[in-house]
Amino acid sequence: MKLTSKTTIHLAATADRHTQTFIIQYFPKMNSPLAFSFPLLLLLLFFFLSSIPSVSTISPHAKKQPPNGMLPSEAETLFKIMDSMSSDQSWRVSYSNPCKPGSSWPGIECKQGNDGYLHVTRLDFGTRPNPTCKKTATFPYQIFSLSYLQSVFFFSCFTHTKTTLSVSADRLYNSSLQQLSLRSNPALVGPIPPQISSLKFLQILTLSQNRLNGQIPVKIFSLNSLVHLDLSYNLLAGTIPVQVGNLRNLVGLDLSYNSLTGSIPSTIGQLGMLQKLDLSSNSLTGSIPDSIDKLSLLAFMALSNNKLTGNFPKGLAKLQSLQYFLMDDNPMFIPLPVEFGILVKLQELRLANSGYSGSIPPSFSQLNNLSTLSLQNNRLTGEIPVVFGSLSHIYHLNLSRNFLDGVVPFNSSFLKRLGRNLDLSGNPGLCLNPAEAYSVKIGIGVSICGSNKNGSLIKPVKKSQAPRGLQKSFSLFPALGAFALHYMLFLV
Ligand SMILES: *[C@@H]1O[C@H](CO)[C@@H](O)[C@H](O)[C@H]1NC(C)=O
Ligand SMILES: *[C@@H]1O[C@H](CO)[C@@H](O)[C@H](O)[C@H]1NC(C)=O
Ligand SMILES: *[C@@H]1O[C@H](CO)[C@@H](O)[C@H](O)[C@H]1NC(C)=O
Ligand SMILES: *[C@@H]1O[C@H](CO)[C@@H](O)[C@H](O)[C@H]1NC(C)=O
Ligand SMILES: *[C@@H]1O[C@H](CO)[C@@H](O)[C@H](O)[C@H]1NC(C)=O
Repeated sequence: MKLTSKTTIHLAATADRHTQTFIIQYFPKMNSPLAFSFPLLLLLLFFFLSSIPSVSTISPHAKKQPPNGMLPSEAETLFKIMDSMSSDQSWRVSYSNPCKPGSSWPGIECKQGNDGYLHVTRLDFGTRPNPTCKKTATFPYQIFSLSYLQSVFFFSCFTHTKTTLSVSADRLYNSSLQQLSLRSNPALVGPIPPQISSLKFLQILTLSQNRLNGQIPVKIFSLNSLVHLDLSYNLLAGTIPVQVGNLRNLVGLDLSYNSLTGSIPSTIGQLGMLQKLDLSSNSLTGSIPDSIDKLSLLAFMALSNNKLTGNFPKGLAKLQSLQYFLMDDNPMFIPLPVEFGILVKLQELRLANSGYSGSIPPSFSQLNNLSTLSLQNNRLTGEIPVVFGSLSHIYHLNLSRNFLDGVVPFNSSFLKRLGRNLDLSGNPGLCLNPAEAYSVKIGIGVSICGSNKNGSLIKPVKKSQAPRGLQKSFSLFPALGAFALHYMLFLV
């Protein structure tokens, strides 16, 4: 692949919603994903390029290239697909030889096969510079007849005319598809067909942000080459099949934002390669299975907004690769586990709004790389551990709406560093040392110790009053880290 501006734009366009969230969260003023520094782009390109499955269909004997390059039957299939999908061009006229080097249309890639002909290996539709889809576009099942096709991307393509993922197994049989990515297609409805399991070379299956419903077909879990499976933001119901444990090569599993019920199957512990697990915003019940402690490579785990209860797995401390643990909004109602303090790679720990009680374990202060800690809206009691003041990378700390008491143990430089990203409000028993309170002009929502509480409550300041310069420099590093990690793990 060439390093053209097209590549760059495509890269930005494929940045998925987590990245978007990071951008919005950490670069609130930046509304274009392209507005990154050049070194960062290079870094991203590196991850991007190094994760592209290589195409090795070029044969040393393939010199006798036929005059037109393509098999007429394949060209005809391609034109049928184009005519049914896009009215940007009159494809047959403007690009009569679609694979011809130098004149191929955007959104298509071709490679020479062992037979000497040029074959379509990649189709990319929906957003410029690729062909856009017309309102009547429906899912072109003919793509599965293009037996050299390796990657398909349809992004924001099926938007008006309802269409389903209809496929017949015999067509899929000859397909060598490795990546099928159908994202943000609000008119893509109906179930995920079990026949998709005939795509036996599939490594990346992304069906995110469509309106797919029904249950996740068990047969999908026989696709044992799968590396990434993303079914997030659909209307999928039913339980997570136990067969999920068959996908031994899986690195990323995202089933978030569906209506899945039942418990997390303990077979998930068989996914020894897993680095990202996102099951957030479903209706999952039960507790996190103990088997999860076998996922020694897991770096990102999100379980927020479910109905998970009970205790954490006994082997929680074995998750030594964990950098992000996001588990807000679950009815846990237990004390905070001390073991989190041993997960030294943690950068973000979110346990808000989950009924945690007891005191904050001082062990949390060992998390030297922690940048975000969210414990708001629980039932935590006792004092803030004094050692918290030494969390050297923290830049977002929310302990609001608990029952914490005592003197806030942060000195003025800590308070200045966090600025408006420190929230201690809604803890009536907390108070701030007068020395600290007067040296910084930042409100953290607590009163001054020993004073008339009625008059001296320091209100949280408005955004415009916060010390912006400081926050930018402190928030930049975690954001870049998260961004790079994202591209390493989740580029699909
Ligand atoms: C699959 O490929 C083989 C050989 O390449 C061919 O003979 C057969 O007709 C193809 N099957 C289908 C369903 O296209
Ligand atoms: C903390 O982060 C730094 C920089 O990202 C990294 O070099 C270091 O290994 C991390 N420490 C741990 C314990 O993961
Ligand atoms: C504030 O506390 C930190 C951590 O204990 C310490 O390193 C720093 O020197 C203190 N700063 C001031 C101004 O006291
Ligand atoms: C802390 O959490 C509360 C409750 O969710 C939220 O309203 C507030 O904006 C948060 N504060 C910060 C600084 O993020
Ligand atoms: C705070 O105000 C209330 C009523 O406004 C009053 O009854 C109470 O005594 C005041 N508390 C203090 C500590 O002044």
